[in-house]
Amino acid sequence: GAPDTRTPTGAETGAPAETKGQQGAYLTTSQGARLRDTDHSLKAGPRGPILMQDHHFREKITHFDHERIPERVVHARGAGAHGVFVGYGTAEGVTRAGFLKKGKETDVFVRFSTVLGSRGSADTVRDTRGFATKFYTDEGTFDLVGNNMPVFFIQDAIKFPDIIHAGKPHPDREIPQAQSAHDTFWDFVSLHTEAQHHAMWNMSDRGIPRSYRTMEGFGVHTFRLINDAGETVLAKFHWKPKLGVHSLTWEEAQITSGVDPDFHRRDLYDAIESGAFPEWELGIQVFPDTPEETFAGIDLLDPTKIVPEELAPVQRVGKLVLNRTPRNFFAETEQVAFHLGNLPPGIDVTNDPLLQGRLFSYVDTQLTRLGGPNFSQIPINRPHAPVNDMLRDGFHQHAVHAGVAPYRPNSLDGGNPFTAGDKEQAFLDFPVRVAEAPKIRENPASFDDHYSQVRLFWLSMSPVEKEHIIRAYTFELGKCYEQAIKERQLQSLANIDPVLCAEVATGLGLPAPKPTIELADPAPSPALSQVGAEWPPD
Ligand code: HEM
Repeated sequence: GAPDTRTPTGAETGAPAETKGQQGAYLTTSQGARLRDTDHSLKAGPRGPILMQDHHFREKITHFDHERIPERVVHARGAGAHGVFVGYGTAEGVTRAGFLKKGKETDVFVRFSTVLGSRGSADTVRDTRGFATKFYTDEGTFDLVGNNMPVFFIQDAIKFPDIIHAGKPHPDREIPQAQSAHDTFWDFVSLHTEAQHHAMWNMSDRGIPRSYRTMEGFGVHTFRLINDAGETVLAKFHWKPKLGVHSLTWEEAQITSGVDPDFHRRDLYDAIESGAFPEWELGIQVFPDTPEETFAGIDLLDPTKIVPEELAPVQRVGKLVLNRTPRNFFAETEQVAFHLGNLPPGIDVTNDPLLQGRLFSYVDTQLTRLGGPNFSQIPINRPHAPVNDMLRDGFHQHAVHAGVAPYRPNSLDGGNPFTAGDKEQAFLDFPVRVAEAPKIRENPASFDDHYSQVRLFWLSMSPVEKEHIIRAYTFELGKCYEQAIKERQLQSLANIDPVLCAEVATGLGLPAPKPTIELADPAPSPALSQVGAEWPPD
């Protein structure tokens, strides 16, 4: 007989991918009726026309016609892998999250991605990379949706459509496919100068990673951690790759885009299949939870700023190993849905205005991308913790819910499922004090400095890294048609560093402007080029 190849057995159970596609002696329709022929349509005689009554033809073509779903509005191109996370127990003093306890093992799924290109674009373009991790913890799913760069282009989520419209291909000619070599990108970042820090990370070697296996990951935002005693700290998440951080050279990246546009996807798949399992350590930078929410003068709610590791060392709290490739790209890598609101007890959000907006955006887009409100029932998105909710019906409902009373309080289906003891275990929206302040559309003054950390980054680079950055700006800006945009970006570079500005200006054949601000001279930050040096822990 024919096996039921539709049953989702792999992703959620961790079962090995032994089931092949079609097996057995015959094919069936989707209803299980045995087929005589799937190679010829039913026609009026051998020369046609095709008959409307050919229900097998219609089923086969109709299903095919609807095989595609919208690609992600950003991060459309990605590659995923399953793995396991083991807690070290070193975070137990600052968070009650069970998956960080010593020796605790938790299943994970990670999706790496580029940001701007569409699903079929090349892997090795100059871009930010997504590093999104789904921890299937016993206490509910935790999604750490980060990037391979620790800062973001904007400070307020309301600017996300602006930066993405500017970064995506030109609306008229739809080029360039997947990088920042164009007028709209540089138009935006030179006008909206809070984007300059992230733009410099893009122009650095971080923008062209050698492999997903050699990337750091960053949660970017500051989160709030809560321990068993109800005490809080502020924290930033970091992933440190066991293999260290490595990049391609620009020439390698360009050649690879042509020779093997799937270079990173293949590298991840081949490494795992050959048993060279990629590993990262999860680390946290911890800051006191003060009412100001600053550390060393840095506003912790500003996602365009880092806290240098010399000021707050990254403390290792667990290890991630990716050890299993997806069985089916569509079912797993394409349908996985991350959401920053997926938080376990012990980890909470802060008021970072970028983070706050993201809490809305992901589920909203997934309602369209995954066709309605039941996508958490898709195998890759199912929690590995028991689910006891009152959500009902809707498109693509797969659950057959028992009972008659999906409401509370009720006296029919067991009444009140909460007990005092259970509440102790539950997620706590930490009762932080909300400022008594007028409603305004305005940033705090502490968000105003757009240049000093870009300069810090630039000054921390080695001579060869600086050379790469100069060449990257020169290449990308050289692709702009509008001279005014190049000149405006040169002004931003002058406000970062006169040498950088002069070199890029020479490359573009334009005069170098003078800085319009006073340049501070921070100490160089060695930590940026020493990543991975501390492996293994202990
Ligand atoms: C997707 C990271 C800011 C909206 C993603 C993905 C990552 C990511 C890694 C890919 C997830 C996957 O693999 O499926 C980040 C980081 C941000 C940031 C690190 C800043 C720190 C924002 C903001 C918004 C936003 C401000 C909107 C207000 C989206 C949307 C998707 C997405 C709509 C597509 C989700 C989907 O279709 O499933 N982001 N993002 N992101 N991001 Fe962000």
